[in-house]
Amino acid sequence: MQYAAEFRNITKVFGPVEVLHGVSFGIPAGEVQALIGENGAGKSTLMKILGGYQPPTSGELLVGGQPVRFHSSRDAEAQGVVLIHQEFNLADDLTVAQNIFLGRELGGALLDDAAMNRAAEAALARLGVSLDPRLRVRGLSVPQKQLVEIAKALSRDARILIMDEPTAALTVRETEVLFDLIRKLRSEGVTILYISHKLEEVKALADTVTVLRDGAVVSTDPASALTPHEMANRMVGRELEDMFPDKGQAGAEELLHVEHLSVPGWAQDITFTLRAGEVLGFAGLVGAGRTELFEGLLGLRPHSVGQVRLSGKAVRLRSPGDAARAGLVYLSEDRKGKGLLVDFQLRPNLTLMTLEHYAHPLLDPRAEQQALKKAVGDYGIRSGRLDVAASALSGGNQQKLALARILEVNPQVIVLDEPTRGVDVGAKREIYLLIQRLAQSGKGVIVVSSELSELLGLCQRLLIVREGRLVGELGAGEMNEQEVIQYATGLKAAPLRETA
Ligand SMILES: Nc1ncnc2c1ncn2[C@@H]1O[C@H](COP(=O)(O)OP(=O)(O)OP(=O)(O)O)[C@@H](O)[C@H]1O
Ligand SMILES: [Mg+2]
Repeated sequence: MQYAAEFRNITKVFGPVEVLHGVSFGIPAGEVQALIGENGAGKSTLMKILGGYQPPTSGELLVGGQPVRFHSSRDAEAQGVVLIHQEFNLADDLTVAQNIFLGRELGGALLDDAAMNRAAEAALARLGVSLDPRLRVRGLSVPQKQLVEIAKALSRDARILIMDEPTAALTVRETEVLFDLIRKLRSEGVTILYISHKLEEVKALADTVTVLRDGAVVSTDPASALTPHEMANRMVGRELEDMFPDKGQAGAEELLHVEHLSVPGWAQDITFTLRAGEVLGFAGLVGAGRTELFEGLLGLRPHSVGQVRLSGKAVRLRSPGDAARAGLVYLSEDRKGKGLLVDFQLRPNLTLMTLEHYAHPLLDPRAEQQALKKAVGDYGIRSGRLDVAASALSGGNQQKLALARILEVNPQVIVLDEPTRGVDVGAKREIYLLIQRLAQSGKGVIVVSSELSELLGLCQRLLIVREGRLVGELGAGEMNEQEVIQYATGLKAAPLRETA
């Protein structure tokens, strides 16, 4: 077998914790090889080793049959190995084009901006995206950042392309374009390593699947030999039960009432009610304005207008802090940009919103530490040590920490934007159970998700947003994929039952 790259007995130690325990496998040249495993299994760590971002503690890495020792991602790129990061690795203050060409600026000493912009535009067009290359990355949405990250890697002439959850933030259409491109690259002889928690995608795309559990290889098989369900079982090492808990019943008490909310450029005249015990879903295509609607509600978008009542009381929310004090919290879809302070340790990340609980009047670090230990247990946050920066957690575990952080304030209304993005199947189920428990205890939960199956499985009621307006409402007995898609794409529109 000709391997494009091969891991031989690779270990990786962070401080006192070994996270990779002698990993050995080869990546067949010219194939799409998937790497799957639970949050924290070591997938990204292994890929950063192959991409030159960090050295292994011991073991050997071969590229094209030759042992290599990379000291930087540049070394790896020189051998044709390029990594697309899971957590974006873009410079916020640079433009799209400057990011795509970072480190290899065109035009020598005098940068040729016009040429760079044209080349960047072409690189994006290849992905079926039209995006102004002169925009600063800071202002882009999460899916746009993802596409820039992919365009950046593709413009680097990779022979081995590593994609760490490239579709976590993409729409179905963007995913299809990306898959066509991956298949085309494969036909041109490029080897692709593909990490994803979307096992249906893995099944559709990969030639081979390697499963990693707790830092060790469990198995490598042809993708055709495994169903997504079998992949999931291998990842967690046991038979998984049903994904979704029973849907509860909403009570009568009104927790949140939003009336005539408009967010300039995004949402128009939105009116809805959330009741105690209810799990209410917001469906729609990516870009329909759901995230912006809630950002407007929380005072994060200027000039938003509308009336808001929380538990019957009229409130004006000027910031997420205001909202949290009034009993409404929001989990951002952009966990790195807006959710967590990734350079800070886990403890301040958990308690920053509730510091007053730990000050009597001086801060009590021991109580804080206690709270962190409890959160780690309650939410199943997997981390070798607790005294590390949030950036040291795996992607899915960062998501759990973000969730723990907003629930620390014991809110009545919880808005979760893409709560399971980047989360493995087992942990996903735990988050679903948590949502159900919150609703059963009388809280109201709103879920915004691009995974339709998640909304259908979890929510008692769905509101569908299209181009910034509510265009449909479906109760538990009426919701199915077909219906939602018809509303979301504009094939169907109905007056809302729910009015003021
Ligand atoms: N710089 C670091 N310092 C300390 N621990 C780290 C560091 N980077 C990763 N780890 C730990 O290594 C383990 C593996 O993390 P990794 O990011 O490789 O997981 P993953 O398989 O990619 O998970 P996910 O599906 O959540 O992305 C985790 O326990 C993580 O906390
Ligand atoms: Mg990862």
